[in-house]
Amino acid sequence: MRKILILNGPNLNMLGTREPEIYGRATLDDIKTLCEQKAKALDMQVDFRQSNHEGTLVDWIQEAAKGRIFDGLIINAAAYTHTSIAIHDALRLLSVPIIEVHLSNPKKREKFRRFSYVGLVTKHVIAGHKEKGYEMALEKIWSLLSR
Ligand code: DQA
Repeated sequence: MRKILILNGPNLNMLGTREPEIYGRATLDDIKTLCEQKAKALDMQVDFRQSNHEGTLVDWIQEAAKGRIFDGLIINAAAYTHTSIAIHDALRLLSVPIIEVHLSNPKKREKFRRFSYVGLVTKHVIAGHKEKGYEMALEKIWSLLSR
């Protein structure tokens, strides 16, 4: 069965109460449940994680690169999207499909959110669909893996 790693960056543990007008009302636990259900329907498995720490996210990406146990990666690097060369470099170690996901559409927000270091590594970006974007990302990865 295909296994997908889903990584979430800083402050996403605060979803539900964090700026709901921008990010929606779903908590990270709600999103995890949505992802597990969607993955099951697509005959895949997910490993869903969140960290506020850049180095931990780098470690997890390296784990995926070295272990070869994951068939794809979905990443919402949150604020690190716009700042982290370390996450960018780690993502370059992967040979599996990568989908960048955002709840909001950073390109339509403040200028400092327009650039993405993650976007330099993948052309697959889903943004602005709130929690539904994670389900869309799973569908996308499923279709990329089924080609
Ligand atoms: C975000 C967008 C980022 O700009 C922001 O820093 C986040 C969340 C999103 O999902 O819309 O923390 O990645």
